[in-house]
Amino acid sequence: MLSSSQVLSIRARFPVLRKKIYLNSCSQGALSDAVENGMREYLASWHEHGSPWDVWVERYEAARTQFASLIGAAADEVAVVPYASAGINSVASALTYRERKKVVLGEFEFPTMGHIWLAQQRRGAQVEFANAEGNSLSIHAYERLIDKNTLIVPVTGVCFMNGFRSPVADIAGLAHANGALVMLDDYQDCGTRPVDVRASQVDFYVTGTLKYLLGPPGLAFLYVRQQLIESLEPTITGWFAQANPFAFDVKHLDPSPTARRFEAGSPPVPNVYAAMRGIELLQEIGLDNVAAHIADLGQTLLRGARRLGVKAKTPANSVGPLIVLQSKDAAALVAKLAAEGIVCSSRHDGLRLSLHVYNTLEDVVAVLQVLERNLDLLDTGPVAG
Ligand SMILES: Cc1ncc(COP(=O)(O)O)c(C=O)c1O
Repeated sequence: MLSSSQVLSIRARFPVLRKKIYLNSCSQGALSDAVENGMREYLASWHEHGSPWDVWVERYEAARTQFASLIGAAADEVAVVPYASAGINSVASALTYRERKKVVLGEFEFPTMGHIWLAQQRRGAQVEFANAEGNSLSIHAYERLIDKNTLIVPVTGVCFMNGFRSPVADIAGLAHANGALVMLDDYQDCGTRPVDVRASQVDFYVTGTLKYLLGPPGLAFLYVRQQLIESLEPTITGWFAQANPFAFDVKHLDPSPTARRFEAGSPPVPNVYAAMRGIELLQEIGLDNVAAHIADLGQTLLRGARRLGVKAKTPANSVGPLIVLQSKDAAALVAKLAAEGIVCSSRHDGLRLSLHVYNTLEDVVAVLQVLERNLDLLDTGPVAG
């Protein structure tokens, strides 16, 4: 567990925290001096050398290796893509929807997941949604839909709307028992705790850098389990997906034998420079430490909300990082909090408060004080637990 002085020295790396209480890492991680320096390093290399593509390609390969080590994969199992949707689309484009047609996904997925698989209906996919009960989506909803006709089950690690954590291991077990593939979208959690992608038994893992990984937008990663890579030929492709992009051979399609076949065009080099520094910072702090700190703050926030009689959408036993409170006018509440220097966001009727390693008990107390003054904007009443 991090000491207060360790948290203070981490906070000193994020200039925005001098002015704001920052509870919006679920949208965009705060900017650290490390990430800013990464961006500067990219600019300096451009200034200095004009077009150092050899150095830039090395850096993009280093980002692949760094991310692979973060999730316990091999570098050859990782595609470097500009956004999570690109990685998901690439996989969707490689599936054929012939013997198996069904895509089963929960209604807590981020919308892009629905859009991508719904677009595959024209290629034969049959999309079925597992329905939630209130703010929970149990394995039983998946049990009703997953069968021998199921091709893939995309599942969000943590829901962006309510902070619900999916029972990923159970869903993966069920999907695999039926011969279906599993794709974990971990964008709302990656960067808050250690990840062991092999232990999680998923076939695909996708995330991007702009939230809890503390990087900029415009960079994401797709993991594809080694044994699957060569059986999948994406129809969304491009020169950086070829075995040798620098063969400059317009007449032949020769997909890389590695997960690079899920990429397409020139890598987003500035974002690579910046994002690597964010991941490095988290690795220096230690992801176990990050997780313990977030869980502690999350429980304090949930207890405080309960004391005020405020209903939470997030389960009482949540370990974070996203805590969502039920509001009568979430947009108005976000504005009230902004007026007090607290940055957060809303989705539908939920006030989203997201916690990271740079947040403190004082942040939680400050937000609870503003909530107490604005109980008319919150859903209150007897709260269980
Ligand atoms: C869970 C989740 N998946 C996917 C996305 C979208 O990713 P991208 O814009 O990189 O395609 C988001 C963005 O908020 C998200 O929260």
